[in-house]
Amino acid sequence: MSLPSALAGTPSAETPVPAFLQRSLQALGLGAAQLRPVWRNGAGGLTFSVASGGAAAPIELYAKWNPDGAGESLTQEAERLRWIHGRHPAPAVVDLIVEGPEEVLLTRALPGESAVSPRWKADPDLALRALGNGLRRLHDLEPQDCPFDWGVEHRLRAAERTSGRTSSPAAQLPEDAPSLDRLVLCQGDPCAPNTLLAADGSFLAHVDLARLGVADRWADLAVMSMSLAWNFSGYDEAVFWDAYGIEPEAHRIDYYRRLWDAT
Ligand SMILES: Nc1ncnc2c1ncn2[C@@H]1O[C@H](COP(=O)(O)OP(=O)(O)OP(=O)(O)O)[C@@H](O)[C@H]1O
Ligand SMILES: [Mg+2]
Repeated sequence: MSLPSALAGTPSAETPVPAFLQRSLQALGLGAAQLRPVWRNGAGGLTFSVASGGAAAPIELYAKWNPDGAGESLTQEAERLRWIHGRHPAPAVVDLIVEGPEEVLLTRALPGESAVSPRWKADPDLALRALGNGLRRLHDLEPQDCPFDWGVEHRLRAAERTSGRTSSPAAQLPEDAPSLDRLVLCQGDPCAPNTLLAADGSFLAHVDLARLGVADRWADLAVMSMSLAWNFSGYDEAVFWDAYGIEPEAHRIDYYRRLWDAT
């Protein structure tokens, strides 16, 4: 996720293309495509934009490369992207290639920029409005037929399995979880960089959906509002709450931020 991390951010233009990604593109007939590094995540994974086909028939894709699919994997992300296709704006999967621990996910490029691009960071009012509108749009979908879970129990169990910590993640939380407010389809990695805006500043799409799943809406709201402080520090987050259409509730926000940190 896009927590502030020493590793995460825009990689240099000279970032080498991982050998497995290059081989995967070759196998798909995209060996001559032009790659531009776009993002490096906290786990060392890379995202590139991929352009090929020439001006007459351009093919624009995004390629995510994950060096170690053991934890939160691109396989998991592809599964969720395929499910949400046609339900909510998100990248369409072109291919998923897995070999040993390495994974490559190719998606069709969406015509937008992340909410933390220089353009939208310079216009926090529009960006925060789009972040609120986008989350509201996702949360207004019917969650009933979604097969993915992102509830508290599920997250704690997953954290126990993968963390190898000495202290249990659950022990870091207050005993009483807040009562359920509303079960919705949660983004699961709700932060400004995972929201794309259209050219006019409106919400375009959500990306990075490896944890998409059903949960209380405050699981998303608590973390998205926390991410605003990193990406739009000093700006009044009331615009976000207003666009979503809810008043912040301190105890729910506190619980779900602790859960985020614990898991
Ligand atoms: N299909 C797409 N169309 C347009 N932009 C995209 C697409 N896929 C990814 N991006 C861009 O690449 C960036 C990185 O993608 P993504 O958030 O999925 O990577 P990540 O490594 O999982 O990120 P994180 O650091 O949050 O874990 C996004 O913020 C977005 O700007
Ligand atoms: Mg991301």
